[in-house]
Amino acid sequence: MRNSATAFAPASVGNVGIGFDILGHTVEAIGDRVRVERTVERGVRIRAITGVATELPLEASRNTAGQALKSLAEAHNLDFGFEMTIEKGIPLGSGLGGSAASAVAAVVAGNALLEIPLSKLELLKFAMKGEAVASGSVHVDNIAPSLFGGLVLTVGVDHPRTKQIPVPPGIRCVLVHPHMYLSTKEARGILSSTVKLSDLVWQCANLAGFISACYTNDLDMIRDAFEDVIIEPQRQALIPGFRDVKHAAMSNGALGCSISGAGPTVFCWCETPAAEKIQAAMIAAFGANGLACDSWISSIEATGARVID
Ligand code: HSE
Repeated sequence: MRNSATAFAPASVGNVGIGFDILGHTVEAIGDRVRVERTVERGVRIRAITGVATELPLEASRNTAGQALKSLAEAHNLDFGFEMTIEKGIPLGSGLGGSAASAVAAVVAGNALLEIPLSKLELLKFAMKGEAVASGSVHVDNIAPSLFGGLVLTVGVDHPRTKQIPVPPGIRCVLVHPHMYLSTKEARGILSSTVKLSDLVWQCANLAGFISACYTNDLDMIRDAFEDVIIEPQRQALIPGFRDVKHAAMSNGALGCSISGAGPTVFCWCETPAAEKIQAAMIAAFGANGLACDSWISSIEATGARVID
């Protein structure tokens, strides 16, 4: 049996605009790594946090990765413990699923040390317990793609079921992360708890259209359906220059553009040849609004989190 393992979990766009809290996809370009070692003493300890975001709690129950592994160990009454090192590749408060990726990488690495490894669906539930520490609510649109890979739809919370949706070939995701911090709690806190019936119908049609278009490689339908009419209009004021950035993406050929998760990262889907031009235009639009950015062009791989060492 192994005594240590390192897992990588990719970043994610969750939600993907039209699928608030239920539809997310991986961002293979960046991710978090967690190394877990078996210890004789029970419990979970975090030895160190390195990388692009180090100002996170070292106390396991207040850390998404720590809490995720702690809940796994407690649920299975393990007679040993874990010590972990977290290497953050995903900026904090970016809307790129960083808290979810750390939780996912922790349970995937920990799982490699179990005598009888658990299924991914079981790991999902423990990762959710970790994610709840950061966001104050339970949603799986970042955890599910980070764990399973690709574009993933999740139905249910207490007994979640997931479905990997095929992504048409040749699609790239362009992500532009302006250098500002946006709290998920704040971005959720401003949302109205009621929705106009006509907007609900429009959003349902867009989500159904988007998913069926993914199954049938219908890029025109993806373009028409890629419009979040409920959440994006409420959140866009939190991101300076959002409208300009979206216009820059769409006028350069993007299939659709929206806020990644709770923001402030803005993402779009496009065909591969257009990706670099769109990326430059989005960065310039944020620049004109006084914001410097990090940016990635990423594939949407269906592999998800995995043990790498
Ligand atoms: N789906 C969530 C949101 C993601 O948009 O608020 C944030 O973690």
